[in-house]
Amino acid sequence: MRIDIVCVVPDLLKSPFEASIMKRAIDKGHVEVHFHNLRDYTNNKYKQVDDYQYGGGAGMVLMAEPIDKCLGQLKSERQYDEIIYLTPDGHRLDQQMANTMSLQQNLIFLCGHYKGIDQRVRDMHITKEISIGDYVLSGGEVAAIVLSDAIIRLIPGVLNDETSALTDSFQDNLLAPPIYTRPAEYKGHKVPEILMSGHKKKIEEWREDQALKITKEKRPDLI
Ligand code: ADE
Repeated sequence: MRIDIVCVVPDLLKSPFEASIMKRAIDKGHVEVHFHNLRDYTNNKYKQVDDYQYGGGAGMVLMAEPIDKCLGQLKSERQYDEIIYLTPDGHRLDQQMANTMSLQQNLIFLCGHYKGIDQRVRDMHITKEISIGDYVLSGGEVAAIVLSDAIIRLIPGVLNDETSALTDSFQDNLLAPPIYTRPAEYKGHKVPEILMSGHKKKIEEWREDQALKITKEKRPDLI
């Protein structure tokens, strides 16, 4: 997979790709991540990327030209499965969407900044608009990190058996059951007996019951 991240603050983005599972996925050749700074696609001396809103209103808008130039260049180099704009008014990201995108080859993530981007480049280039939740961030960069992590860990071969994504919360539309590790008793708090019984089928049933119970308590909307 190849991900191209287009933004105005690439420095905000880089370190999460230099550690942990995303770094391992890059090192093992499962994914390439490229960063593009919109200021490199400006014509003006001050590398200005934003301007005032037509019609008035608070907040600056990212101009069409640098975005169009950058996306145009990338699209001339290869075919993209999706050109995704990260925005609070997009479709809310869920595990199903991450599963689907983890099987794609080439993705562009465009990060907004300030008030957003000129509508014309949305109309011209964007194939999917994604929000990572119903709150507003100061830019799409943090959202691009979240989306990258959610997708990259699902690329076949990235996680090994111990970290398998199959038992994650949401994979079966339920939250994950409680988990424990050694010691069997900590400050008087004991690990549930059943988990130490060695009885695989009963343990599986217990986990399913717990997942259902926790989901009913915390996220009844999922049931
Ligand atoms: N940019 C600003 N807020 C965002 C959000 N909630 N999701 C995606 N991109 C954003």
